Amino acid sequence: MKSSWKLVTYLIVVSMATIMLAACGSSGTSSSSGVSVGIVLPTRDEPRWVQDEQRFKDALADSEYTTEILFSQGSSANEKENVETLLNRGIDVLIIAPHDGAAAGSSVEAAKAEGVTVIAYDRLITETDAIDYYVTFDSVAVGEAQGQYLIENAQGTNVPLYLYAGASSDNNAFLFFEGAWNVLQPKIADGTFVIANSSEATALQDSPELTREEMGRILGQITTNWDPNEAINKAQTHLTAAGADLKGDIAILAPNDGTARAIADVFSTDSEVTSYFVTGQDAEQASIQYIIDGKQSMTVFKDVRTLVEDAMGMAIDVLDGNTPETTGSYNNGKVDVQAKQTDVIVVDEDNVKQELIDSEYYEASEFTGL
Ligand code: GAL
Repeated sequence: MKSSWKLVTYLIVVSMATIMLAACGSSGTSSSSGVSVGIVLPTRDEPRWVQDEQRFKDALADSEYTTEILFSQGSSANEKENVETLLNRGIDVLIIAPHDGAAAGSSVEAAKAEGVTVIAYDRLITETDAIDYYVTFDSVAVGEAQGQYLIENAQGTNVPLYLYAGASSDNNAFLFFEGAWNVLQPKIADGTFVIANSSEATALQDSPELTREEMGRILGQITTNWDPNEAINKAQTHLTAAGADLKGDIAILAPNDGTARAIADVFSTDSEVTSYFVTGQDAEQASIQYIIDGKQSMTVFKDVRTLVEDAMGMAIDVLDGNTPETTGSYNNGKVDVQAKQTDVIVVDEDNVKQELIDSEYYEASEFTGL
């Protein structure tokens, strides 16, 4: 008994010494203006990424590690400059959610050339081998959850289905659409739904599995580019073109919360639309209010606290000379990238309080009518 306690004490002392050394190492390895972990996020214009910034700040409040967060404002050129700025600050690890997954290749190649470890955050960087790790949610499951929600709420047959998607420059947009198609396609084939706004999707409606090129053709018609204004314009155009048979009680696949609110606002003002179910994603505060108010049907909650924890955990492992733990891999068109993946949670009016308030993600005082 005694000797095992001695061993435990010894192990505690050794691991504390390792942590202290690692902490010294991280600031020591940085240059005088020293930043050990650089974080690049795509845009402040979408609340989703402002959430991530806040969660990084919360997670790092008591940390020894020096970090800097820069936003690329929807521009690959800004993103490249941001990466260069961080390389000049002497970073050892780069955590990056790219604006454009393919265009980011040259930035991460520059980082790799300087011996920096690259962690793709939420969005995969494609067609390059200059990427070490990927932290992500299960994006195919996001799309499946959205599609499944529409299926569970569809009444009768020939329910008009309006499809919308994210930006083609974002690998996730394909994964979300793939997931939605996995579950919706059989229900289009059996006549539950009728596609209302995409001739490319209609042409492919008997194909249970789509190639990336086929999905690209559909996305070319229904993309919002993640931009609520583009979503509004497309929704208005679709409703103007739709006859009475494509109105009434309808289903809308909206890829995320920003576009869901925009599209819902358009559909709710059409007098021939009697009811709609619309999906979302990200649990943005404004969409939680929309769900409470019955204006958005659901959202897919991606707990950003977990993603931040995973990304920083990996970064700290790298700084400490350890190999980060991964749970699988994603092929980025060039290599299999080791990845850590997190599950998602479907939220609608029935569980909104439990999942988002009781879990302390938001405070009840941030909403009305809860
Ligand atoms: C995706 C991300 C979503 C959503 C969208 C628009 O890549 O996974 O959570 O925010 O971009 O920015």
